[in-house]
Amino acid sequence: MTAEYRVESGVAVVTLNNPPVNGLNHATRQGIVEAVTKANQDDAVRAIVITGGSKIFSGGADIREFNTPRMSQAPHLGNVIEVLESSAKPVVAAVSGTAMGGGLELAMGCHYRVAAAQAQIALPEVKLGLLPGAGGTQRLPRLVGLEAALNMIVSGDAVPAKKLAGTKLFDEVLEGDPLPAAIALAGKVAGAEKHPRARDIRIDFPEAEGYLGWARMTVAATAPQYPAPLRCVDAVTAAVTDKFDAALKKEFAYFHELSVTPESRALRHAFFAERAAQNIPDVPADTPIREIKLAAVIGAGTMGGGIAMNFVNAGIPVKLLEMKQEALDRGLATIRKNYENTAKKGRITQEQVEERMGLLQPTMSYDDIADADIVIEAVFERFDVKEQVFQTLDKVMKQGAILATNTSTLDVDRIAAVTARPQDVIGTHFFSPANVMKLLEVVRGEKTAKDVLATVMKLAKKLKKTAVVSGVCDGFIGNRMVEQYTRQAGFMLEEGATPAQVDGAIERFGFAMGPFRMSDLAGNDIGYDIRQRRYQERPDMHYGKLADYLIEKFDRKGQKVGKGWYDYKPGDRKAIPSAEVEQLIVDYRKEVGTTPRKISDAEIVQRLVFSLVNEACHILEEGIALRASDIDVVYLTGYGFPAYRGGPMQYANEFGLYNVMQAMESFARNPHADPAFWQPAPLLRRLVAEGKNFE
Ligand code: NAI
Repeated sequence: MTAEYRVESGVAVVTLNNPPVNGLNHATRQGIVEAVTKANQDDAVRAIVITGGSKIFSGGADIREFNTPRMSQAPHLGNVIEVLESSAKPVVAAVSGTAMGGGLELAMGCHYRVAAAQAQIALPEVKLGLLPGAGGTQRLPRLVGLEAALNMIVSGDAVPAKKLAGTKLFDEVLEGDPLPAAIALAGKVAGAEKHPRARDIRIDFPEAEGYLGWARMTVAATAPQYPAPLRCVDAVTAAVTDKFDAALKKEFAYFHELSVTPESRALRHAFFAERAAQNIPDVPADTPIREIKLAAVIGAGTMGGGIAMNFVNAGIPVKLLEMKQEALDRGLATIRKNYENTAKKGRITQEQVEERMGLLQPTMSYDDIADADIVIEAVFERFDVKEQVFQTLDKVMKQGAILATNTSTLDVDRIAAVTARPQDVIGTHFFSPANVMKLLEVVRGEKTAKDVLATVMKLAKKLKKTAVVSGVCDGFIGNRMVEQYTRQAGFMLEEGATPAQVDGAIERFGFAMGPFRMSDLAGNDIGYDIRQRRYQERPDMHYGKLADYLIEKFDRKGQKVGKGWYDYKPGDRKAIPSAEVEQLIVDYRKEVGTTPRKISDAEIVQRLVFSLVNEACHILEEGIALRASDIDVVYLTGYGFPAYRGGPMQYANEFGLYNVMQAMESFARNPHADPAFWQPAPLLRRLVAEGKNFE
């Protein structure tokens, strides 16, 4: 039963029962219609209450039904709402916990609503590139007012019911379970001749069309790449300008139009990809996990400090260990400054700053951290240094403690092998700034125990990170791919592009930052060091020497020294094209004998994105990533890939894998190209031959 029926003091109580969020799947929609019909025929019943139980009203569409034929089978939510609105006996919604999307639309279809003060109220469809398609854009402006409704619909953000108290959306807002009050209200209104319907309310907003015109312009300017927010404005405009049923039809048409846009497909893909990334095929969801009550972080530098803040923010005490007092003091001062800045912006109170600092315990002694449940090492990126740290951890840490490394390039299995407990060792690759960036690559070593992996995945959630599992390889998923992307960016300079042109093209595609600006931010010396190692390890791999010359000849390390691929004014991050770099590029072209040509923006974008895609195919073939959608999650949450394009693999699917391979083959014919670079990976060839996409 997805909608249970019982009668209580002359009131039919219909309880939605489709855990975990009372998603409005086909059976539930049908259940509501049957229950309301039955109540109308039941002489013992004078009124109806719809509840989802004390925890949640309804989270809206059932995502398990997405992309299945059931999704579009009648009764649709719109039909259910018609049944509610036309019910002769009054219908009261008892809104507890959450009423989101279709859940809120359902509630707005009832004649009366009683809500718990803390209940979260939202129409979040816009976040999936859609709009509410069952009257949400029509009823909400009538119930909470035009401006408040538009804000909710365009942002998709949740508002607590208590903030909406006093509007026509709620007849009553109270603390605790709203059901008894809803039953009482139902009893009171039972005899009335007519019951209010949201659709009958007139929207009273002076100069509504002028206001909506302004809203349209603002939305167009703030989200130019997204069609959904503008359509939300259009649908709400129809609520003002059109008759209810005509506007409802428009809303429905907009919904269908949006549902087939690449932007909505990308956002829905990302939504499901993040969920899928939590599934590890050989680690069942019920794998017992280890308890994490106390953490330790070794190294209070750039990463260690940020990592420690993640634990503190989640209320988990952290011990922070350094070798020298000076480094420890510096690390703590940086953390404090970070929190004080957050407090200055009003996001936390000064009291909370102290509370958080209180959860941090600085130390220089390993004995102090022995009782931690997890220790994350973030010391210098040198094997000998990490080796010593892990040998010490092996000696001092309590049995069962998880030993994690934040290494970005070193072999996690080799690190594990210096301990007598490789099963407890795992990689946790945070991204900088670690207290801000969502992505966490969880690196599963050859011997990492399943419960260690399950524990870290669960912990990631608690730390508000998006975790993606990676196997052991140089660079893991994200950085291994970005190396090919950066190499390709360098080749384009040799062939005729400027750093500003390459960055501009990929930034217009939607990346937060192009490769050269990014490299200036991270420090060009980091890439330099990695390349020096690569020349030893992979003499077969061709790198241009331009980036090396940048360091060797001009010491242009990036923003930190005021000059890199661009020039920078002191204290300003604005990238200014550099005459010195331009000359360096011109000279280098002469050295390698290339005649510069104009490279189009489209070529730049394809060469950069398909460099990522081809390397990703190798990563999938080697089993480093579990699924193509995990790679998209890595790029969306860690590398500023535009959300409305869904990640490199989704973009390649949209572009057509056949077309991707054709493009690669044409790039390989470029006389200046390294032909090995554009060899399509076997996985790509196979998918094209089979007419399949990345999944
Ligand atoms: P950092 O140089 O800012 O910090 C390292 C800290 O470790 C310093 O404070 C140093 O005093 C301390 N330290 C060195 N040896 C130690 C020892 N034996 N015991 C205790 N403390 C010791 O370096 P950063 O950038 O924080 O990097 C740390 C690790 O994180 C490296 O493995 C790096 O590859 C990795 N990583 C760095 C990222 C970045 O963007 N900086 C991103 C992801 C990973």
